Amino acid sequence: MAAHPLPAAALGLVILFALATTTQSNPCLNCSKDFKTLSCSLSTPEEERYTLKITDHKDVKDGALSYQCHYTTQQVHFTFHKGCNFSSVQSVTFKRCPLFNVSFSEIFTQLGIFPENVLQLIFENSGTRKDLKLETWHLSGLTNLEILQLNNNQFTSLPPDILKATPNLEHFLFSRNSMPSLPETIFANTPKLVTINLLNNNFESLPENLLVNVSSLAVLRIYGNALREFNPKLFANIPEVYNLELSINKLTKLTSDTFQYLPKLQQLYLKLNDLESLPEDIFHNCPDLQIVHLRNNRLLFIPSELFNMSKNISDFDFHNNEVTKIPQLLFQGLENLTTLTMSENSLEDIPDGTFTDLVKLEKLLLQNNPLKTIPPGSFDQQRRIKRLSLANTSLTDLPDNIFKNCESLEEIDLSDNHLSKLKSTFFPHSTTVLRSLKLSKNNLSFSALTSDPRAGEAGEVLVEQFPLSDQVSLIDLILNNNNIKVIPHALRNLKKLRRLDLKNNSIEYLDYYEFLFGQDRIDFDPNDASQSILQNSELKQYVNVELRDNPLVCDCNLYKFSQLVQDKISEEEKDKIQLKVVDKARVKCSFPNDRSVQKLVRTLDISILVCYRNHCHPSCDCATRPHDHMFIMECAHQRLRAIPPLKQYLPKGNYSVTLDLKNNSITSLEGLQRPEYSTLVNLTMPYNYLRVINESYLTKRLQALDVDSNALTHFSPSLVDFLNATNANLSLGGNPWVCDCKLVNLYIFLRDPLRKLASSHSVMCDNLKKPLLSLAEEELCPTIQQPMVVITIVSTTLFLFLFFVLG
Ligand SMILES: *[C@@H]1O[C@H](CO)[C@@H](O)[C@H](O)[C@H]1NC(C)=O
Ligand SMILES: *[C@@H]1O[C@H](CO)[C@@H](O)[C@H](O)[C@H]1NC(C)=O
Ligand SMILES: *[C@@H]1O[C@H](CO)[C@@H](O)[C@H](O)[C@H]1NC(C)=O
Ligand SMILES: *[C@@H]1O[C@H](CO)[C@@H](O)[C@H](O)[C@H]1NC(C)=O
Ligand SMILES: *[C@@H]1O[C@H](CO)[C@@H](O)[C@H](O)[C@H]1NC(C)=O
Ligand SMILES: *[C@@H]1O[C@H](CO)[C@@H](O)[C@H](O)[C@H]1NC(C)=O
Ligand SMILES: *[C@@H]1O[C@H](CO)[C@@H](O)[C@H](O)[C@H]1NC(C)=O
Ligand SMILES: *[C@@H]1O[C@H](CO)[C@@H](O)[C@H](O)[C@H]1NC(C)=O
Ligand SMILES: *[C@@H]1O[C@H](CO)[C@@H](O)[C@H](O)[C@H]1NC(C)=O
Ligand SMILES: *[C@@H]1O[C@H](CO)[C@@H](O)[C@H](O)[C@H]1NC(C)=O
Ligand SMILES: *[C@@H]1O[C@H](CO)[C@@H](O)[C@H](O)[C@H]1NC(C)=O
Ligand SMILES: *[C@@H]1O[C@H](CO)[C@@H](O)[C@H](O)[C@H]1NC(C)=O
Repeated sequence: MAAHPLPAAALGLVILFALATTTQSNPCLNCSKDFKTLSCSLSTPEEERYTLKITDHKDVKDGALSYQCHYTTQQVHFTFHKGCNFSSVQSVTFKRCPLFNVSFSEIFTQLGIFPENVLQLIFENSGTRKDLKLETWHLSGLTNLEILQLNNNQFTSLPPDILKATPNLEHFLFSRNSMPSLPETIFANTPKLVTINLLNNNFESLPENLLVNVSSLAVLRIYGNALREFNPKLFANIPEVYNLELSINKLTKLTSDTFQYLPKLQQLYLKLNDLESLPEDIFHNCPDLQIVHLRNNRLLFIPSELFNMSKNISDFDFHNNEVTKIPQLLFQGLENLTTLTMSENSLEDIPDGTFTDLVKLEKLLLQNNPLKTIPPGSFDQQRRIKRLSLANTSLTDLPDNIFKNCESLEEIDLSDNHLSKLKSTFFPHSTTVLRSLKLSKNNLSFSALTSDPRAGEAGEVLVEQFPLSDQVSLIDLILNNNNIKVIPHALRNLKKLRRLDLKNNSIEYLDYYEFLFGQDRIDFDPNDASQSILQNSELKQYVNVELRDNPLVCDCNLYKFSQLVQDKISEEEKDKIQLKVVDKARVKCSFPNDRSVQKLVRTLDISILVCYRNHCHPSCDCATRPHDHMFIMECAHQRLRAIPPLKQYLPKGNYSVTLDLKNNSITSLEGLQRPEYSTLVNLTMPYNYLRVINESYLTKRLQALDVDSNALTHFSPSLVDFLNATNANLSLGGNPWVCDCKLVNLYIFLRDPLRKLASSHSVMCDNLKKPLLSLAEEELCPTIQQPMVVITIVSTTLFLFLFFVLG
């Protein structure tokens, strides 16, 4: 008997009741002690089903009973579970159920619930039932009810004495119904009310005496209605209210006395109204005010004395209004202000000292204001500030040391400004906890060690000055839409960096191998075995880089990066990579000779990536190609008469050499014996005047020999042996080959099907006007047997001679 005990949380019983009369013996109707082991058939029609659930209510076991009807259910039968013992129930919820033709207390009695025990009644429809009409008698007998929740029922009216029988009511929650107002005396008999929620009801007005008998009221929420104005008398008898929620109405005007009877007001929400002005003394009787939300109104100014009497403000949200100025003394003495939101106004400046008293400020949002400048020292007192947004504020520069004291600053948003230069002195120094820095849409560039090989050759290496080197806690660095040309090496110092957004900058070259392979992002000692765990966990913290929309050049500098993007990095290297190009499917580059055509790096043929070099023979172009580590010197159509020198142009690093001399006037390979040509692998020189090729000029490493269309007539047997040994790709067509016995070696050599010969039929016999390889052996050398016959005759003669002479 190793049955698993059911988890305690599942103790609440869930029974599905079938309502048809034929289901009198339904096994669901089992109120024995083992409720939880029952399961019910789902075969009853939907409109007759409902779910019954019992859970604990606060500390009372089985204290909460909830019915969930099908939305088509017309009548709920309660007689089926008469046997159940619901004596501990204190809270009853009906969801999507119809109203009954008897009172709730009568139904409770039928169920074995004691009506006087019921403290909470929730009757909610999800807006599916219309024409529900709640009557006063429905609530009779619920003398101890504390919480009545009637949300989302589309009630269009309520009897004025609906709460007559519930004198102990503390919380009246009446939201999402459809009434233009409430009966004036609805709260006449509920003096203990603490909370009234009247959200989203379409109220256009409220009777001025509505709240005269609820003097204990603490929380009043009238959010989401259509109220245009208040009679201040509405609030005259509720001096305990600390939370007043009036957001999303149509208020255009508040008067000096609107809140004067609310001396304990702490939280006031007025967002999304149509307010255009505030009286300067509107809060002067509200000394405890802490939270004031006025976002999304149409306020044109803030009275300077707004907070004269309310110095304990902690959260002021003034987002999206139309003020052009912050009065200089507005925030004077607000030592507890922690969140200040002035974003999306028309602020043109910030008066000196505006924030001086705000020593506890943690969050300051000023984005989307046409500020242009910030006075020096503005944030000197903000040692606790964590988050600051100055995005889209038309800033062209920042004062030196502007954040120097902001040692708690974790996030700065400076996106969408006109900053051209970042200085390290802007940012917090020595102690910095800056984790997120957003600088997108500025005009930033960094001077850095240049990766542009052209600049490098000119000896011009800029000294890197990376203003964020000290910001070692950075995790997110957002730099998209700037003017950045190179990725600063110093980024490697930011060992916590996880996100680097460089989209839409001016990056052309990405040869920062070290950056891609940031082994030094953690201090790793391969000899320390205890760190091998580190290697697996911490080393694999990638920097997620976004790079699309940069003018990357498809050249040799992009080779490693292309390999990375194409997942062609070796396993060994892969282990070290800490960079993940998250938008690699969209990173493009263009070839230097046609910048208008963009290629996806992901599908680029990386074997053709080359870089041209400035330093080259005047008649040639020099390039390096990382894919096969090739140095290519191309000197086509230059009327060269001799092999050009290579030495001074060949870069260090053991390159193989390709020499392309197509279409010149060269008659000899003289010059190729020079040591720098010892790594020549590809000699391409069609359309020249070579008569002979002397293999002593060539190296065993030769992989390609193109001597098409020269003046060659024969290949010496030793050259054929040489070519046989190298087995290079050959191109021999277009020469005036003289097909005679001296060409037999070449003929036999080329006939080999393994030979790598370009267009064999173009190797034409000039004398016979036939392709060499179309000849039969006798055609090439008709006397080919003669030497053998001569040898035979000679040797036979010799033998006979010796035989007779010695014999
Ligand atoms: C009620 O539950 C008990 C215990 O699980 C079980 O023995 C009994 O058969 C059930 N009764 C009905 C009518 O299903
Ligand atoms: C119902 O349960 C309570 C304990 O929760 C018990 O005191 C009472 O006697 C039970 N009533 C019946 C009718 O079983
Ligand atoms: C309530 O409705 C039920 C079912 O329609 C009916 O049997 C009962 O008589 C009604 N009770 C009253 C008080 O109207
Ligand atoms: C306030 O209570 C008094 C005394 O019970 C009552 O006469 C009056 O009608 C009530 N007014 C309102 C608006 O509830
Ligand atoms: C409010 O404060 C300002 C400046 O501190 C002062 O000039 C003004 O008299 C004060 N007003 C009231 C009503 O206290
Ligand atoms: C100020 O507000 C804080 C809550 O933010 C509260 O704890 C404190 O008691 C208030 N102080 C005064 C003097 O009102
Ligand atoms: C700020 O808050 C502290 C503690 O919550 C409180 O002691 C102090 O009086 C408040 N300051 C003001 C100006 O209300
Ligand atoms: C930038 O701020 C101006 C107001 O200064 C506003 O009109 C504009 O919509 C803002 N732009 C964005 C992208 O938010
Ligand atoms: C952007 O910065 C460059 C220098 O990096 C400067 O020449 C240019 O004028 C700046 N453009 C704007 C619009 O500020
Ligand atoms: C890139 O930035 C420029 C301005 O610097 C802007 O005009 C362009 O729309 C941006 N392109 C993309 C794809 O974001
Ligand atoms: C040799 O170089 C020429 C010119 O660069 C090139 O077209 C040819 O493909 C190369 N041959 C081989 C086998 O690499
Ligand atoms: C080429 O070399 C192989 C040995 O490497 C030899 O067997 C073959 O005969 C040679 N062919 C010619 C045409 O010299």
